[in-house]
Amino acid sequence: MALDTHVSEMLNTQINKELYSAYLYLTFADYYDARGLKGFANWYVIQSQEEVDHARILRRYLLDNEVTPKMEAIAQPDLTFSDDLAPLKAALEHEQFITRSIEECYGAAREVLDLRTMKLLDWFVEEQGEEEVNAQDMITNMELFGTDPMGLYNLDREYQSRAYTQQTTLVM
Ligand code: FEO
Repeated sequence: MALDTHVSEMLNTQINKELYSAYLYLTFADYYDARGLKGFANWYVIQSQEEVDHARILRRYLLDNEVTPKMEAIAQPDLTFSDDLAPLKAALEHEQFITRSIEECYGAAREVLDLRTMKLLDWFVEEQGEEEVNAQDMITNMELFGTDPMGLYNLDREYQSRAYTQQTTLVM
């Protein structure tokens, strides 16, 4: 069955939001890189790669449902940060925004009883839960340990160990 037009438009817009997320996290990585915090930079480069994966999953889903995605312009993220905590707080706010956006897509799919899209979005709902926890943990860690140079050094080393794994869903 063909995808409902409203649902497919929302998924298309979600692709743009995921690509914007990738852009935003690269901006955070650049900030930390310039500060000499290569572990934080690494963490956000990988986060950016995961966001591109999210966009790719949605693109593939549209294509598999005979919808040609429209790649829209990606907005420029804000490049100024007041301190090392600011990007972490902006990340949590952004993920909360993305969670709401996924929920809205889900709502649109549910309205037309599009169970297949709902199943796809189940994966994103779970992923958003994890991302919000990660974003909150990074804020908590920074507030607890980031004001002490040795604490910050250890946090940076911990984030250096994050490795990229390609994101896939069971639906694909
Ligand atoms: Fe793809 Fe971080 O949401």
